[in-house]
Amino acid sequence: MKRHRLAFVGAGRIADVHYASIQAMPARAELVAFCESRPEAVVERQSQWAVPGFESFDRMLREVDPDAICLFLPHDKHLEYVTAAARAGKPVFMEKPVAGTREDARKIVEVVEKSGIQLLVTHTGLFHPAFQQIVEFVRKGWLGRPLFAKGTSAGWLTFRPWDFRLSREQTGGGCWVDAGGHLVYCLREIFGEVESVTGYIAKLSRPEMEGEDHAAATLRYRSGALAQLFVSYGHKLPGYQHDWPIGYLNSIEISGDKGAVQYVISPEPRVSYFSEVAEAMPEEWQGWLTHQPPEGYGYSFQAAMAHFLDCLDSGTKPRVTAEDGLAVLDTLLRLYDHCNSEARVL
Ligand SMILES: NC(=O)c1ccc[n+]([C@@H]2O[C@H](COP(=O)([O-])OP(=O)(O)OC[C@H]3O[C@@H](n4cnc5c(N)ncnc54)[C@H](O)[C@@H]3O)[C@@H](O)[C@H]2O)c1
Repeated sequence: MKRHRLAFVGAGRIADVHYASIQAMPARAELVAFCESRPEAVVERQSQWAVPGFESFDRMLREVDPDAICLFLPHDKHLEYVTAAARAGKPVFMEKPVAGTREDARKIVEVVEKSGIQLLVTHTGLFHPAFQQIVEFVRKGWLGRPLFAKGTSAGWLTFRPWDFRLSREQTGGGCWVDAGGHLVYCLREIFGEVESVTGYIAKLSRPEMEGEDHAAATLRYRSGALAQLFVSYGHKLPGYQHDWPIGYLNSIEISGDKGAVQYVISPEPRVSYFSEVAEAMPEEWQGWLTHQPPEGYGYSFQAAMAHFLDCLDSGTKPRVTAEDGLAVLDTLLRLYDHCNSEARVL
């Protein structure tokens, strides 16, 4: 197995989490350089990570020639850097969402297809063993036909002074397009494609954000199933003064015609199952069967990185493609389309 030489583009909040993943797999990957547009961050990260930092992506490629590029950027920058990485023939590990607009996302799909590079959109939650068990539970028929889901992603996000989430242009919206995707991509695994989206977005408690700080959506799937999703960056839950995932509730409840699952993703993962299918539950079991997965939510990031490295080793297509990213983004943007068409603008 090769030790892959990775370069980061964007050295903000999430770069720390991915840096920790790489540090946990030293035989598989190393950070060899990074590129960042804030000069003060270049200085700070160079001393913290002990690798060269650049303000120019092209110069970084010329001087370091990394094996693969990791994009941890505002959403409106994704197309530019996927295009530059593809031109250099470099595989891309890219934070979600695939882009901030459908137009950019479609162009990214095209660039990946034409260049043949490997690209993983980090729909991180899919990689957590607890979520994989839920998918397995459904696949075995223990939930029966999936009928309804309720998803929550709510907390008080602590904004960094440079945080791109304050800008509508850089995110493509507000909290919904930034955080709603985690709920949407998980439910897509269970329910399939979405037929229609309705709901509301609102600016209620974070005046520093240009986009919405609250969103409540109802999704109808092609199968006929329904989901209600709630996303907020302005909820004060216990521990809200700390950084994510403390003080942040991420959860999904799914019910089918034979059972139900409750999945708390953060702050601490917990899964409860119920099924009327005898094989699914211990003998004579009554009520919910609950367990606490040993891996914290942060493990998802490491598992996603490990998967990307597997793909580099084997030359195979990553599990979450740009097309998957486009499908999820399209669902997210449909809430904005709906709100605009109903003149429910902020
Ligand atoms: N999977 C998850 O759970 C999760 C969690 C947080 C963030 N994210 C995603 O990660 C990405 C980054 O989020 P973040 O929280 O790190 O944001 P951030 O604002 O903290 O960091 C972005 C960094 O990119 C830098 N930057 C901006 N334009 C640049 C350019 N042209 N070239 C180089 N650097 C540039 C900024 O200076 C900043 O340091 C986003 O796509 C976000 O949606 C995912």
